[in-house]
Amino acid sequence: MTEIRQPQGQLLLRTLAMPADTNPNGDIFGGWIMSQMDIAGGLLAKEIARGRICTVSVDKMTFHSPVGVGDAVCVHGHCSRIGTSSMVIHLEVWAKPMLKQEKDRYCVTEGTFTYVAINESGRPRPIPAQA
Ligand SMILES: CC(C)(COP(=O)(O)OP(=O)(O)OC[C@H]1O[C@@H](n2cnc3c(N)ncnc32)[C@H](O)[C@@H]1OP(=O)(O)O)[C@@H](O)C(=O)NCCC(=O)NCCS
Repeated sequence: MTEIRQPQGQLLLRTLAMPADTNPNGDIFGGWIMSQMDIAGGLLAKEIARGRICTVSVDKMTFHSPVGVGDAVCVHGHCSRIGTSSMVIHLEVWAKPMLKQEKDRYCVTEGTFTYVAINESGRPRPIPAQA
């Protein structure tokens, strides 16, 4: 029996793919998808760091399938490592065609984003102890 893949981590962001976000092929532009991932991961990183953070690196970005205009786009994620000032967050983007209700959601993109907790001068600061 084939195991059906499910999103890993918590739902961090849900939005709609709009016509203004397309590339010349008419699919959704990969840069827009990456920016949604960065926003979603940044939300989780801010919660963990309880304050200001910045993105320091993006790794292992893989685009599995195109996203269509009108698809519901969800970003799920979980933190896999907390260092002194850095957080490694794995993010997955799942799309669900809104006009074809019979079609299941599918994973379109995934990647690993690293964020750093920073102080008011933009320098790394220690992440507070987690509850
Ligand atoms: C993030 C930044 C503050 C780190 O400064 P830095 O002088 O490299 O700091 P450090 O060497 O002390 O590293 C701090 C932490 O970042 C991690 N780090 C630094 N560069 C990294 C990289 N390329 N990839 C992954 N982690 C990195 C270090 O491992 C360290 O983690 P730890 O504290 O958990 O051990 C600095 O590189 C910066 O301001 N970058 C620009 C950020 C930015 O503008 N982002 C885009 C908009 S949000």
